[in-house]
Amino acid sequence: MIEFINIGKQFGENKVLTDVSHVMQTGQCNLIIGTSGSGKTVLQKCLVGLFEPDRGEIFYDGLSFTEMNNQSRKELRQQIGMLFQGSALFDSLTVEQNVMFPLEMFSKMTIGERKIRVNEVLARVNLVDANNKFPSELSGGMKKRVGIARAIVLNPKYLFCDEPNSGLDPQTSLVIDKLIYDITKEFNITTVINTHDMNSVMEIGENILYMYQGKKEWTGNNEEIIFSKNERLNEFIFASKFLQDAKDMRMLEAKGIIADDRDMDEILKNGDKLTN
Ligand SMILES: Nc1ncnc2c1ncn2[C@@H]1O[C@H](COP(=O)(O)OP(=O)(O)OP(=O)(O)O)[C@@H](O)[C@H]1O
Ligand SMILES: [Mg+2]
Repeated sequence: MIEFINIGKQFGENKVLTDVSHVMQTGQCNLIIGTSGSGKTVLQKCLVGLFEPDRGEIFYDGLSFTEMNNQSRKELRQQIGMLFQGSALFDSLTVEQNVMFPLEMFSKMTIGERKIRVNEVLARVNLVDANNKFPSELSGGMKKRVGIARAIVLNPKYLFCDEPNSGLDPQTSLVIDKLIYDITKEFNITTVINTHDMNSVMEIGENILYMYQGKKEWTGNNEEIIFSKNERLNEFIFASKFLQDAKDMRMLEAKGIIADDRDMDEILKNGDKLTN
């Protein structure tokens, strides 16, 4: 569990985060959503200590990250896995070397043990036999999976992913989402995901923080988001007419107004009257 209270951050005159408080739950996919520039990346960077917030407190399972000395922060960071936007693999290293990198930095494993661990995580992300490939030989989805393997190789308690689906087609995005979701459950990780992918919100949004201009605007899960009356959130999530109609339909269904195909025909004939 990661709890943060009244986080504030500004760059010069630009107030990027204002009094943001939230709890990221253990064993869940915690999503930070919002339009470009709403402060998602800055918030994630504050949480892992890549940026120092101007105000506020951050607790990792009750321990104050804000008050920790450098040594304790270093130790905590070893329990944090990060999947960067664009995967950020080392181009000159093979898949195996990329995934092994954190083990070389932070573990005392022998080379044999490291190889076993690398093969374990590569198998977990369905990438057996890719050990000797270079990133340039991989598809976008495969690169993400290598990134995930590298992020989990040290068995993290906390996993941060910044836009894990950027640049991927919808189907591959679902595969990556499912992988992150399954790993979160399997290892009971507190997973924090920045996204503006609506499929992800609906598929894995167990605890969603919606940011608007650097402030917490709404919070809830993927069921609650459908019924939310927050106008800013709705404009963001259901931006297209198609998605707005889908939301209306889902609400009618939930209210029990749509019971069978016959009702559906009625609604299509009298749609506006019924929804108003
Ligand atoms: N290192 C920095 N120095 C100065 N300003 C910054 C820095 N990093 C981010 N910002 C500013 O903080 C604001 C929020 O940026 P941030 O990257 O958090 O947005 P975001 O919600 O992640 O957007 P996107 O969806 O495009 O990734 C922007 O106005 C940006 O210009
Ligand atoms: Mg960002």
